Amino acid sequence: MSRAGNGKPRVAVGADHGGFLLKQELVARLRDNYEILDLGADSCEPDDDYPDFVVAVTKAVVSDEAQRGVLVCGSGVGACIAANKVPDIRAGLCHDVYSAHQGVERDDMNVLCLGARVIGLELAMELVTAFLRASFSGEERHLRRLQKTQAIENRSLQGSGE
Ligand code: RB5
Repeated sequence: MSRAGNGKPRVAVGADHGGFLLKQELVARLRDNYEILDLGADSCEPDDDYPDFVVAVTKAVVSDEAQRGVLVCGSGVGACIAANKVPDIRAGLCHDVYSAHQGVERDDMNVLCLGARVIGLELAMELVTAFLRASFSGEERHLRRLQKTQAIENRSLQGSGE
């Protein structure tokens, strides 16, 4: 993962009201080792909507302002669905450590989604750490699968979902 000017990898983080508290705790802990772009929510507003934070985080990742993104909502599902609508985003909902690093190593996952109503802070920290420490293997078979996945996106964007 490339690094910000201060040598720390830059990570964009966002959450709706369902993920707000967990996001606050993660941000506080992650600041020791990463440059964190906290893209909200800034307070717990029951009427806020997770897609708004998905837009902010995925924009930072696609523009390379951040090298990776972490999204937290109640279950992680809504954020993951919304994030994968953005071209070049490969988001995964991972609540086990194996998937959190394997998703990067094999699938080049660039956004990790978490459900604050499903897991606690300690597991969330382990998941985020595994995700951020992992890197894509670049192996031929994984590249081939990624290219096929990218082709699905390209065809959909061109209006032919075949
Ligand atoms: C918000 O109440 C909740 O629906 C949202 O955070 C998330 O769980 C959606 O998947």
